[in-house]
Amino acid sequence: MKPTQLEIKRAKELRELLQRASYAYYVLDNPIMEDTVYDRLYRELQDIERKYSELITPDSPTQRVGEKPATHFTSVRHNIPLYSLENAFNITELENWNQRWQRHLPSQYLIVDTEYVTELKIDGAALALTYENGILVRGATRGDGVMGEDITQNVRTIRSIPLRLNFDYLTGAFKNIPKVEVRGEVFLPVELFRQINERRKKDGEQLFANPRNAVAGTLRQLDSRIVAQRQLDFFAYTLHIAGLDDASVADTQWESLELLQKLGFRVDTNHKLCRSIAEVSEYYEYWDTARLNSPYMTDGVVVKLNTFKLQEQLGFTQKFPRWAIALKYPAQEAPTRVEKITVNVGRTGALTPLAEMLPVQLAGTTVSRATLHNSDRIQQLDIRIGDTVIVRKAGEIIPEVVRVIKELRPAGTQPFIMPVNCPVCGQPVVRELGEAVTRCVNSSCAAILKGEIEHWVSRDALDIKGVGEKLVHQLVDKKLVHSIADLYELTTAKLCTLERMGEKSAVKLVTAIAQSKNQPWPKVLYGLGIRHVGSVNAQLLTEKFTNVTQLSNARQSDIENVYGVGPEIAQSVYQWFRMTVNQNLISRLESIGLQFANQEAANENMENNPENQKLAGKTFVITGTLTTLKRDEAKKLIQQAGGKVTDSISKKTDFLVVGEDAGSKLEKAEKLGIIQLTETELLQMLKY
Ligand code: IVH
Repeated sequence: MKPTQLEIKRAKELRELLQRASYAYYVLDNPIMEDTVYDRLYRELQDIERKYSELITPDSPTQRVGEKPATHFTSVRHNIPLYSLENAFNITELENWNQRWQRHLPSQYLIVDTEYVTELKIDGAALALTYENGILVRGATRGDGVMGEDITQNVRTIRSIPLRLNFDYLTGAFKNIPKVEVRGEVFLPVELFRQINERRKKDGEQLFANPRNAVAGTLRQLDSRIVAQRQLDFFAYTLHIAGLDDASVADTQWESLELLQKLGFRVDTNHKLCRSIAEVSEYYEYWDTARLNSPYMTDGVVVKLNTFKLQEQLGFTQKFPRWAIALKYPAQEAPTRVEKITVNVGRTGALTPLAEMLPVQLAGTTVSRATLHNSDRIQQLDIRIGDTVIVRKAGEIIPEVVRVIKELRPAGTQPFIMPVNCPVCGQPVVRELGEAVTRCVNSSCAAILKGEIEHWVSRDALDIKGVGEKLVHQLVDKKLVHSIADLYELTTAKLCTLERMGEKSAVKLVTAIAQSKNQPWPKVLYGLGIRHVGSVNAQLLTEKFTNVTQLSNARQSDIENVYGVGPEIAQSVYQWFRMTVNQNLISRLESIGLQFANQEAANENMENNPENQKLAGKTFVITGTLTTLKRDEAKKLIQQAGGKVTDSISKKTDFLVVGEDAGSKLEKAEKLGIIQLTETELLQMLKY
């Protein structure tokens, strides 16, 4: 079937509308429509495109979501090389540069009222974008400046990068600019970086050392669906125009930045026009402190001569433009001494070496521990106990050892060797071919078990309040718990054997653990701690596989076909379900009553499963204030177990649950000889 004229027109209209809305939202930070309206229009466009694939254009907003994984990136030659910038580390060096470029000019060149544009130096990764007739045709990494990698698929997922340029405001002869090259910096806001690392920590993945590494790692992801999830952002700072007389569109860097914004790019608004080096210094000094509160990382300021004529006159050295310089902030680094190297074992069994150091003040905090990542990293830097090392910490970023001052190494030190046995359980550790990480693979290792339980009880998983790190350690060390499932066998009596555990707290814990049986299937799946399955992936997987049987029987390719789930995740999930220990764990948790199916399916299951109907046919009344459960919660638990809850005592009442300050119902129950239950007895009856 062919699309009608009306449908063709509507698709175009929708693309333009959505593009304008996106620009207003991501670039101008000034939305023009509500999210729900955007979603409706987006779906309308999607429907048309689904019907007529010939109507899909490369600039359609639907083309941003990420495609099937690529197998590799192709190398591309940059049309114009990407130069880097010379660094200055203080005002004197800046002044020297200011003298240098002036001396480089021919003597007849008259310098009048030099203008400098100062911009923040964004700490991310440089990106070169090519637009042909206004359409994004290529996005490439910097590479060595001459050759980069074609990462167009990934670039498309970055919302602040327009897929089509806005030429509307251009007038007269300039209705279209045939070829536009835009350069800028891809970055990750500090808060998102923090969230990504937090998630990675929970998922047992290696942390990114800083936002720059996270950006570089993300841009080189072969699976653009992962890139789409990371929410990278982009600031444009350079505009090259071909096929037009440049000077007629912009004569200066200042005008270029304005033009970039009009074309549809996000430009960092903190740039400034300075008329003297003194003004530039002022800008630098202001940002030295202001940057600590900035939502994105900057490692200095970039100073550019404003007029393109002057820039052309000065040209480039082998590596740098003569007309610009990066004025960097001193790195937040400090020397300290490594006292000890300890090895931590995480939930996934990964061994992480940590340097325990003499405490040192850095970026406003005291640092005494730094991750050494893995044995390769230790070997590479040759870090030894007793070494004086330089540690670096920037803002919220985790401290790391950057180098060893070998000259200060005391005599008799030995290279550090990763243990061959797990420091916690003593079993041999394994390092798989091609992996940097060494792991303990003993599934009953106490460190792994502690990590698994901490993950299971965490907020995004089963959210069991009151079970923190300390309690988990006690439970495992006292051998009260050997698996996640054992949590559900804990009784108040067992808990009361722990140090400083009173009856009341024990009841509270038993209740909280019991209540977690109501947590939905996505949270349970996330809680199982399967490698690479974060809460987003757990949600995606449970939408497709609505119960655990479907997921455990799925082929690896079925799992991979779930939108947003890459091959690495699919393999990990598939293998997890093939292991007998895991199958046994699922059976046990299922029989305990955890939710392994989405709600509708689960309700059916509950009703059909006599195992879950322990209180069938029994009528309860609740009186007084319960200590741990709210009355509604108690009611729900009884009903879920098949019992009935009524408001008043009658001969039909089987049990009266008695809380504090019970009133007339208690008297009546006594008269009728109805069995009375304390809250603890009720919980035990529910077999908690
Ligand atoms: S201009 C020829 N402006 O810094 C001019 N670069 O150390 C080249 N960078 O590779 C770059 N913010 O990735 C420029 N406002 C900014 C920048 C910036 C960050 C990066 C860029 C470049 C590196 C040079």
